Amino acid sequence: SDSTVYRASTTAPVNIAVIKYWGKRDTALNLPTNSSLSVTLSQKSLKTHTTASCSSSYSGPDSLLLNGEPEDIQSSKRTQACLQLLRRFRKDVEAKDSSLPKLTDMPLKLVSINNFPTAAGLASSAAGFAALVRAIANLYELPHSPTQLSLIARQGSGSACRSLMGGYVAWRAGSSKDGQDSIAEEIAPVSHWPEMRALILVVSADKKGVASTAGMQTTVETSTLFKARAEEIVPKRMALMEEAIQAKDFPKFAETTMKDSNSFHACCLDSWPPIHYLNDVSRAAMNAVETINRRAGELVAAYTFDAGPNAVIYYEEKNEKLVAGVFRYVLQAVTGWDGEYGSNIPLNDRG
Ligand code: PMV
Repeated sequence: SDSTVYRASTTAPVNIAVIKYWGKRDTALNLPTNSSLSVTLSQKSLKTHTTASCSSSYSGPDSLLLNGEPEDIQSSKRTQACLQLLRRFRKDVEAKDSSLPKLTDMPLKLVSINNFPTAAGLASSAAGFAALVRAIANLYELPHSPTQLSLIARQGSGSACRSLMGGYVAWRAGSSKDGQDSIAEEIAPVSHWPEMRALILVVSADKKGVASTAGMQTTVETSTLFKARAEEIVPKRMALMEEAIQAKDFPKFAETTMKDSNSFHACCLDSWPPIHYLNDVSRAAMNAVETINRRAGELVAAYTFDAGPNAVIYYEEKNEKLVAGVFRYVLQAVTGWDGEYGSNIPLNDRG
């Protein structure tokens, strides 16, 4: 029989939310309790590279090698959901054209490499699932748009649906039961705001706190603050954030970003048992941002933290010296700050 190896490669970037996704209304489909919005980071610094191949000469089952280590994808419901949906889409394509090779019958081999330390606690699952979905979609020559593919990536990891696009990306929570309206869309390309920068402070390279899925469930079930956040506060902030981005209004962007990070971590602390993602080094980074903004007399830097202690600082290029200078000064006195991975990331690859 035909032993042709079919192959496609791609890369996907990391995204860091400025309005946080925290809470699932459906855990199987990864449907969120609220919309979220993120900034896609440059692939110069942070990305996942994935090659997908298939062949009838491969012995099954489907496999994934991540940074050289085999991953157990057979028992990963989330990975299985993505593979199943991608095969279903390919079946539709093959049904329309009988001359196409029957790729869905062949075992898949996936090889993924992160160009950043996986252990560094940066949002690697977002880039990982986005690259996996995009690589297989390319291999299967699917005609689907990034927004349509975001439905699949979302089922791998919620935040992954925002890594299929560049620039500024909104994930609309949607209201349907099946999640067909829970999709990501680019609200502005990276070129819209070329002055935007992100500084990543790797506070801890060995973070292993509460995993996001478990943490979200604890918060949804026990936090007294959560309902107001999901139902009233975030919808208003989504609108404010979209306005700030469209107008390139940095102070408004910064205020909304910091308030939303704090609201998310307040809900974590308000959960039972309480969830602590921030540590003393994270708080030193927050203080540094406050110092910078006080010195500038306006908001020129914004911090945000995900499910771990690492900080991402957004600022505009013209304030580079002030931001980098204060961080260098403050953090050299703080133990636990791992300067090795801290990097200043121009968001625009051409920048
Ligand atoms: O995609 P997950 O399930 O790893 O959840 C990500 C949650 C946060 O990073 C804390 C927030 C976000 O919107 O990315």
